[in-house]
Amino acid sequence: MARKTADRRTITDRAGATENGSPALAPRYALPEDPAAGLGPASVHVGDCRQVLPRLGLSGGVDLIFADPPFNWSRNYDRAPAGAALGVQGAARGPAAVWRDDMPEAEYLAFTYSWLSACVSSLRPGGTLWVNVPDDWAAEIVVWMKGRGLGGHGGEGVAGVAGGPPAEMIMPRGGWCVWHYRFGQNRTRDGGDAAFVNSKVHALCFVKAPLAARCWRPLRVLEPSDRATVYADPRTRSKRDGFPPGMRVPLDVWYGPGWGRVQGNNAERAAGDFAHDNQLPEAYLERVVLACSDEGGLVLDPFVGSGTTGVVARAYGRRFVGVEYSAANAASAARRIGAGMAHKGVYLNRSSATARPRGSSTIASEPLAAACT
Ligand SMILES: C[S@@+](CC[C@H](N)C(=O)[O-])C[C@H]1O[C@@H](n2cnc3c(N)ncnc32)[C@H](O)[C@@H]1O
Repeated sequence: MARKTADRRTITDRAGATENGSPALAPRYALPEDPAAGLGPASVHVGDCRQVLPRLGLSGGVDLIFADPPFNWSRNYDRAPAGAALGVQGAARGPAAVWRDDMPEAEYLAFTYSWLSACVSSLRPGGTLWVNVPDDWAAEIVVWMKGRGLGGHGGEGVAGVAGGPPAEMIMPRGGWCVWHYRFGQNRTRDGGDAAFVNSKVHALCFVKAPLAARCWRPLRVLEPSDRATVYADPRTRSKRDGFPPGMRVPLDVWYGPGWGRVQGNNAERAAGDFAHDNQLPEAYLERVVLACSDEGGLVLDPFVGSGTTGVVARAYGRRFVGVEYSAANAASAARRIGAGMAHKGVYLNRSSATARPRGSSTIASEPLAAACT
């Protein structure tokens, strides 16, 4: 599907919004709803989500949050020139500030618990929070969320964090998913950095109690089962579980066509000034948005980046609110959200099977194995 050209007339650039470090209460960018085209309204705020979220008046009203935070991997998130002002925890930021992505571990964890708390406060009862994080932080986040706030952490709290999650957060069964991709870099053979090639990020799902109020619509994101596509098992044609024949709820490890990292010459890579090192595939957000929110629902992303959550949420008629620390990223994300999805529906309901249908030829791996000795 061809990408539409960004309609800059639909983006209100509120250049007068705060740029001096105080949280922005009005969005820097606002795209109107377009019911005829099925597009929801979208807005993007500039600032630190910890300070902006509590001032948006969303408290208890958000249906779905997708958070893909900085990983503390020393990334230069908007490729600011060397010497650009770096944001410092809680301090005023200048117009050209970029996020400082190399905090001491304790500081990064305090930052993490703080934005998680702000997200939990923004959710409605039954609202869903997805967090996209690497191995480094997944365990801490799960323990924190399952700890149900400061009480769950022995009442001691965490230095620098005002309060914990104010309500019970539940990790539903199947809520610990993994996004698997197949283009990782070799680590060194020896030394402290030696490791298997990284090929995953954790997609952690939490629901604000009560679980019964959760929005869970798996029928929209079903995929063909391996029984149907690889084994031609006739039993998949007469299923009694209410699912269409041959279809299943996706596995909790996510991969397949359309799910690769959006890097290099990936066709989905936002072009020109949209380019962002950490752009997620549309297929990922399509699954999350469709399965965990309804049309007209309110979707929040506290770390907008290139705007993938907003692009998908708006395209499916959800109302979107995002926060981004970098003014440059926010501007390009708003333009990308206005341009729309590159592959709406293209990777939905597609098989992720890696095996070929039974009886067809196998992949020869022996010559490669011989070279390893
Ligand atoms: C991993 S990227 C998000 C990528 C996004 N999911 C996408 O598909 O493009 C994280 C983004 O969060 C922004 N950021 C870092 N700290 C932030 C904060 N405290 N508040 C808001 N945004 C922040 C960074 O500038 C960066 O653009």
